[in-house]
Amino acid sequence: MSKAIENILQQEVLSKKDIVRLLNSDETERKVLFARAAEVKEAYVGKKVYYRGLVEFSNLCGKNCLYCGIRAGNKKAHRYEVTADEVLEAARYAWDNKFGSIVIQAGERSGKDYVTRIERLVKEIKQMSRGELGITLSLGEQTEETYRRWFEAGAHRYLLRIEVSNPGMYYRYHPKDKTHDYQERLNALYLLRKVGYQVGSGVMIGLPFQTLDDLTDDLLFLQDHDIDMVGMGPYIEHEDTPMYQYRDQLIPKMERFYLSLKMVAVLRIMMKDINIAATTAMQAIDPMGREKSIKVGANIIMPNLTPTRYREDYLLYEDKPCTDEDAEECKRCLEARIHMAGGEIGYGEWGDSKHFARRKKS
Ligand code: 5AD
Ligand code: SF4
Ligand code: FES
Repeated sequence: MSKAIENILQQEVLSKKDIVRLLNSDETERKVLFARAAEVKEAYVGKKVYYRGLVEFSNLCGKNCLYCGIRAGNKKAHRYEVTADEVLEAARYAWDNKFGSIVIQAGERSGKDYVTRIERLVKEIKQMSRGELGITLSLGEQTEETYRRWFEAGAHRYLLRIEVSNPGMYYRYHPKDKTHDYQERLNALYLLRKVGYQVGSGVMIGLPFQTLDDLTDDLLFLQDHDIDMVGMGPYIEHEDTPMYQYRDQLIPKMERFYLSLKMVAVLRIMMKDINIAATTAMQAIDPMGREKSIKVGANIIMPNLTPTRYREDYLLYEDKPCTDEDAEECKRCLEARIHMAGGEIGYGEWGDSKHFARRKKS
């Protein structure tokens, strides 16, 4: 007989076997898991949900991740870069509406001009908001010097999902070449930490060929690397990607959704004081996906601030929500949703990872 969920949840430390068991919980058991995660969340990070206004700055990307709709090889994607004025306008909107921070996200690019352009943008956003708006970057693997320049310009958090934490498995989902090197990606996480960022990472859930064992290792990876913030969500197929050929091997979307919720809940129990995002991909499956994530442990939400005319082009996967809405609609919509999920919004606060603060002190 395997251990009862209740017993596992009373332990201080979860073994690998325990985590697999939790991820494998059935409908009745998962309710117990979710309730425990909600308790841990309330005790360690409270009820507040923090906003990070998301600007999908550009869908140009030099990489070819096999699952992603904006991979370089997808010739059907219509490429764009948001203008500096539009980014500043989005940042002003975020600041005026008391969002604590913004996130600038884009495909992975390099080049002197690009690095300088981002540096300048970060400085301008800082100036515009009198230093008040927190800035998170999500711009892929870069050199230490680039990370440092952007940090010195004023960015203080960086998101870089490991995507798949098992080095062997990594190449099932990425081409095996110099631009998709597992060690380089891992090293980028070390560099970010060394430069001084709050470091975010995460994985995709429900990829073809992925097992509960793999997902357990993913959670342990995030813990072993002492990550400050996590964003993880279900893998969702995209027609114009090589991975689409394995769509028959996927678990059904609702199962992927519940597996993702269980991942969030278990992670909250394992890493009590980190920031966890309620990801947009959750909502691509369930209209209430992000609210449900908040109920089981997430405390960060990223309202979309990308100017509407670009939104249709930042399609990483199918059924991405909010592509027809504008910033105002998403804000109102989310406010109602967060209140429904029993959360409060941390307006005007950075809502930094408590874990990061603790790690800095020690
Ligand atoms: N399904 C779900 N998430 C995806 N991402 C990229 N492609 C997909 C997909 N098909 C995620 C990656 C990346 C983030 C910006 O979007 O994890 O880090
Ligand atoms: Fe580029 Fe990121 Fe998509 Fe990979 S997941 S192809 S790096 S945008
Ligand atoms: Fe964008 Fe609801 S959050 S429309």
